[in-house]
Amino acid sequence: MSGVAQKSRSKSGSGGGAMQMERDRQALQDVTQQQQNEETTENEAAQAEQHEEMLSYTPIQKLEQHGIAASDIKKIRQAGFNTVESVAMYPRKELLLVNGISEKKAEMIFNAATKFVPLGYTTASEIHVKRSQMVQIRTGSAALDRVLGGGIETGSITEVYGEFRTGKTQLCHSLAVICQLPVDMGGAEGKCLWIDTEGTFRPERLLAIASRFNMTGEDVLENVAVARSYNSEHMYQLAMTAGAMMSESRYALVIVDCATAQFRTEYTGRGELAARQMALAKFLRLLHNLCNEFGVAIVITNQVVASVDGGAGMYADPKKPVGGNIIAHMSTTRLYMKKGKAESRVCKVQQSPSLPEAEATFSITQQGIEDFKDKD
Ligand SMILES: Nc1ncnc2c1ncn2[C@@H]1O[C@H](COP(=O)(O)OP(=O)(O)OP(=O)(O)O)[C@@H](O)[C@H]1O
Ligand SMILES: [Mg+2]
Repeated sequence: MSGVAQKSRSKSGSGGGAMQMERDRQALQDVTQQQQNEETTENEAAQAEQHEEMLSYTPIQKLEQHGIAASDIKKIRQAGFNTVESVAMYPRKELLLVNGISEKKAEMIFNAATKFVPLGYTTASEIHVKRSQMVQIRTGSAALDRVLGGGIETGSITEVYGEFRTGKTQLCHSLAVICQLPVDMGGAEGKCLWIDTEGTFRPERLLAIASRFNMTGEDVLENVAVARSYNSEHMYQLAMTAGAMMSESRYALVIVDCATAQFRTEYTGRGELAARQMALAKFLRLLHNLCNEFGVAIVITNQVVASVDGGAGMYADPKKPVGGNIIAHMSTTRLYMKKGKAESRVCKVQQSPSLPEAEATFSITQQGIEDFKDKD
């Protein structure tokens, strides 16, 4: 290396002709570099434009276009407002809580946000068009996808509840891989964010599922951001951070496995029930806002408890999901998982604004969720 450097130095120092040549070469190099830089900038701009077109939300920086100072945008961003949608959707008093945001500024910021986010009425046909463009994430089992009307919906919360070992976490692993696939292959072309409260996330399960779809294992793992949550407050913080991450990169799916367990262990007894429900509602509201803002699919798992009131009668199911009405109201779709015959599992659509209450039988295999093949 040092020999080559030495040689070029002595060459540039050898006479006027050689110096002119060196200057011409340098000038040519500069022009080429400039052209390359311009091309790169153009490419970057085109990429950024394409990226923006793919986004289902409006980056918070866009408020600058309507006269909001960059320093104020920074302040509200630090307080957790990552998108223009979040400004429009959260109650205005939340903006007032941000340090350095006066009532007048809050009003200006809110008004600027409404320029991007329609808050009034739209026609049913517009909603119909939007829904027909909605992406669903397939599960890996065609039978299950059929009862789900195509797969797990993006833009809403799906709750999966059931007894232990019924396949809730296994379904999450399958979805974390499939969501990365292109839309025409049943995915949503986005990353997955996973909040793990039980320590049951397993990367090796993702690798096994990825091989089924001929996906590169390392890429699949890189596209799943996992955080272990240690208590319900930590879980809330992790969901807040999720908003910031989603505004930086394209995410398609958020998994919270399990959404209720930490609330159950932290708030015990009848005396703490009201406080538990309030904390749970706050967390679920945050998730709700995330799917409204970013259009991601949110899948939460939930446990069941013996029902003290619903157990009577022949057809009553003695098990009910934890969390009572709060979780029932906050999840758009509720799926009940139970064990079926011969190691199969059954998933029942228990609540949905658009699907009938149907059941599907599936299997848990090494490669994730698959159709059940009866050996008889
Ligand atoms: N690689 C695999 N191949 C086949 N089956 C598997 C594999 N890994 C796990 N399972 C099966 O998945 C089931 C466990 O499912 P899962 O962990 O999803 O349950 P869960 O509903 O999340 O339970 P919990 O309420 O305890 O969290 C077990 O029956 C297990 O045998
Ligand atoms: Mg589990």
